[in-house]
Amino acid sequence: MTEGRERPRFLDLESLERRARDALDPMAWAYFSGGAERERLLEENVAAWERFRLYPRVLVDVSSVRSATSVLGAPVSLPVVVGPTALQRLAHPEGELATVRGAAAAGAAMVLSSLATCDLDEVAAAAGGAVLHMQVYVLKDRARTAEMVQRAAAAGYRALVFTVDIPVSGLRTREVEHGVRLPDHLGLPNVADPDSARHGWGFVEHVVREFDPALSLDDIAWLGGLSHLPVVVKGLCRADDALRCAEAGAAAVVVSNHGGRQLDDAPASAEVLREVADAVGGRMEVYVDGGIRRAADVVKALALGADAVLLGRPVLWALATGGAEGVMELLENFRSELERIMALCGARQPSEIEPSMVGRIGERPGERP
Ligand SMILES: Cc1cc2nc3c(=O)[nH]c(=O)nc-3n(C[C@H](O)[C@H](O)[C@H](O)COP(=O)(O)O)c2cc1C
Repeated sequence: MTEGRERPRFLDLESLERRARDALDPMAWAYFSGGAERERLLEENVAAWERFRLYPRVLVDVSSVRSATSVLGAPVSLPVVVGPTALQRLAHPEGELATVRGAAAAGAAMVLSSLATCDLDEVAAAAGGAVLHMQVYVLKDRARTAEMVQRAAAAGYRALVFTVDIPVSGLRTREVEHGVRLPDHLGLPNVADPDSARHGWGFVEHVVREFDPALSLDDIAWLGGLSHLPVVVKGLCRADDALRCAEAGAAAVVVSNHGGRQLDDAPASAEVLREVADAVGGRMEVYVDGGIRRAADVVKALALGADAVLLGRPVLWALATGGAEGVMELLENFRSELERIMALCGARQPSEIEPSMVGRIGERPGERP
């Protein structure tokens, strides 16, 4: 009966997550899935999107709906970017190489972590035209940081994503309990893996001790001065911080709490996005991550002022269960579901998703709290 018709794609992230949990060893699962302290924010990030409702516009011709947009001027097939997550070879033997192949096949952008287990040149070579950004942890050893940035610029990465929410590691209780460490056959080729980190408990804690805890606004210009690449500041939740970053030369900001892995008492991303976007949205691009699990969450984020969202853990679940194919399928499912929700809301392209299409429960749509 349905022969010749494409079967509707849909996201089922709960079952994907269950399958990933079964596929991963307990240490990798603890590292990927855990949050900081009581893991309140880990749950709150997801729950907060549910506190918003979409207000669809009707009688709009939605016979053609496309999720295609751009990220810092580069065309992408959807406003969903693969966020930077470390140690992807703990999820799949091909690690970041598989992730970038999946992202490229779906026409999505990807941010490579400084703590990737694959070499940034090899990832760029496998990218097949995908838009790639390089996430940067500024190390106390500035020369090592500068070398990585210059390699990324030469390899064709199009932006630096400067993560600023990890001056010290959050207290990752599950990581401590499971003794998360890097297996001997894996390395961190882009930051010249510190050997000391391999020993004893608390791999992440050790690596983070190499990060510079004395960063300031001036480091946006310092990073910008190392190459021609624009600097995106990732990991803030305050409008005043976003404004200061804009004034200091940032090209964009990511509203993010590191997926609930740092300050457990910080607010959920969905709760603070509108305030940040209102402050700087006209001047720079604004992205958001944390708890985005459904296409409707993406539409809510865009209506609240984001230009695109980043995905963290869902990509790791897709990678762990299906490698490059799994990542592509996840992103394709997001795209097709996103286009369905956009049609239902009366938005033919991402730029037609407006503030009036979202309201927090108890508020009028588009209302400022
Ligand atoms: C296992 C894991 C590793 C991460 N590694 C990095 C990293 O190396 N650099 C970074 O900027 N953010 C890192 N993050 C944070 C993500 O980029 C992102 O902010 C967060 O995962 C988004 O939330 P979500 O997982 O709920 O989608 C990591 C997150 C996870 C879950």
